[in-house]
Amino acid sequence: MLLLFCCIWAKTTAAVTLWPSMTVPFVVDPVIEDVSDRIISLDNALAHLSRVTCLSFIQRTTEKNFIIFSELSDNVPCWDVLSMKGGEQMVNVGGNCLEPVKLPATVTRIFSDCDLQKVQYLYPCPGILPVRPSNCTSIFNRVNNVAASVVPCDVEDPDACPYPTYRNNTLPVGSACSSACDYSGRLLPLLRSFNARLGVSDHFYTTDTVTDATMTAGGYLEEDPVGYLGMEGPSNSHCTCLRPLFRLFHPVINNHFYTSNETERAGAEALGYQFERIEGYCAAEPACGAYMPLSRFFSPLASDHLYTTAVEEVTVLKSILSGYGFERVECYLWQYESANRACETLLH
Ligand SMILES: *[C@@H]1O[C@H](CO)[C@@H](O)[C@H](O)[C@H]1NC(C)=O
Ligand SMILES: *[C@@H]1O[C@H](CO)[C@@H](O)[C@H](O)[C@H]1NC(C)=O
Ligand SMILES: *[C@@H]1O[C@H](CO)[C@@H](O)[C@H](O)[C@H]1NC(C)=O
Repeated sequence: MLLLFCCIWAKTTAAVTLWPSMTVPFVVDPVIEDVSDRIISLDNALAHLSRVTCLSFIQRTTEKNFIIFSELSDNVPCWDVLSMKGGEQMVNVGGNCLEPVKLPATVTRIFSDCDLQKVQYLYPCPGILPVRPSNCTSIFNRVNNVAASVVPCDVEDPDACPYPTYRNNTLPVGSACSSACDYSGRLLPLLRSFNARLGVSDHFYTTDTVTDATMTAGGYLEEDPVGYLGMEGPSNSHCTCLRPLFRLFHPVINNHFYTSNETERAGAEALGYQFERIEGYCAAEPACGAYMPLSRFFSPLASDHLYTTAVEEVTVLKSILSGYGFERVECYLWQYESANRACETLLH
């Protein structure tokens, strides 16, 4: 299998000219720019790519080679942005390639794991481990993407899933939490949304679907959930290292802040943060089936705390001038709704 991978990749890289400095200058055709639903969905798609890959998109100034996002005919492949063709390069992001989005709305992720793997393969962020995805769909270079189907990667067809994914699923050994894989409490997804409005710039996280819906109705864009939190705390017999994840809010600087540390919570309250609620419980160490580190970042300029479990996003935030500084791993979250699934997946 490795051999097959090597040759497909070699073929792919030989065929493309990469964008210098992993940077794509672009302009937007008025056909897209002038329709608000379309420009919102294009902005959202570019934000998604920039957030989880090291490829960046900048408004063209004087660059000779650049792309023009436009609506082209149905048989022109979608999102043909990964190679530089030279000069003006028309790229199809029309109705077949990208659904228009109205605000406020639930914006789902635009690019699949396969797409992100492909970007990472051509424009590698440093220090990311390759893992094979379980399913593959791609919107890059597909014609009539809307109908693109899921290809399971267990088929013996290397073309189905030609690129590695980038999650670090190595199980750490040893645990002071009493169980490596078990937790008997209920798990709920920690939902994530973001308000990018100037002067707000706030990441919001909750396990409460009603509050999440209220935030998205009020202008927060739904993003990928970051993982699962436990609903039962330190009394859980399988897992003895659980901590509450406190949600606090500072109304003046418009910042939601989350911590699993009591002392820090008290310190924040002294600075004007108001305690809102416990969102759930996470593990102090990787154990109990909770193996995803929740990395915490802060942007002083935007007064915004950002929390993520996505290895790609952590790498991008750390490796470019994102404005966000890494603070620490807050605690560990579950990757699946069933606590021991991480162990089953990894140990097979
Ligand atoms: C992956 O996880 C293992 C165990 O936690 C760690 O030792 C290793 O450094 C990680 N690799 C990367 C690239 O993050
Ligand atoms: C892969 O796709 C199939 C078919 O859509 C689906 O049934 C399965 O749950 C997917 N597997 C994963 C791990 O997402
Ligand atoms: C909580 O934060 C305080 C102050 O930052 C620190 O001294 C303490 O070690 C932390 N406790 C834990 C359990 O991490």
